[in-house]
Amino acid sequence: MTAPNTTDVHSSPSRGDSRRADNPWDIEPMPADLIDSPLDFIFAEHHRQREAASILTMLADGEFDGEGVRALIAFLETDFARHIGDEELALFPMLREHCLPEDNVERILARLEDEHREDEASLETATAILVKSASRQQIGENDKRRLRMFAEHIRQHLALENGVLLPIARVRLRGNELGVLAEMLKARRL
Ligand SMILES: [Fe+2]
Ligand SMILES: [Fe+2]
Repeated sequence: MTAPNTTDVHSSPSRGDSRRADNPWDIEPMPADLIDSPLDFIFAEHHRQREAASILTMLADGEFDGEGVRALIAFLETDFARHIGDEELALFPMLREHCLPEDNVERILARLEDEHREDEASLETATAILVKSASRQQIGENDKRRLRMFAEHIRQHLALENGVLLPIARVRLRGNELGVLAEMLKARRL
């Protein structure tokens, strides 16, 4: 028996969900209607960002998949970029309004906002590297290093948001606030 070859996977004519489940270059779609549970929606987006970080790491390790790179560019330019706005324009203001002083949320939010500015700069750099790589089918060593650093930055940002921020949000934002948050996220998608 031979080991599966990830570079051959796109030669399959089948593009169903079974392919998605075991293809490391895919980023899962968002479940329909999850936005009505806005904190679960944000958590699910974080899962997809972790998948994007894994793909960035595979590219930094020297693997390459043209279709995977194109899908990653699309994800970074749309859902990833919009997620930063979801947090800064919807989630963070609600937390500032509803958290208690002992939550120390302002200190956490200020750090996360600083990291978002770094994310936005890295997004631009990474997208330019990926666009270039899509035509050349390869990535230079310096660019691989930049992709790896971006992946690590994504992972540590997710650790702070999943490990510290979302647990506070689940305590402080209840029925009414969650309904308002869901409407704000929906309005950003009209
Ligand atoms: Fe986030
Ligand atoms: Fe964030």
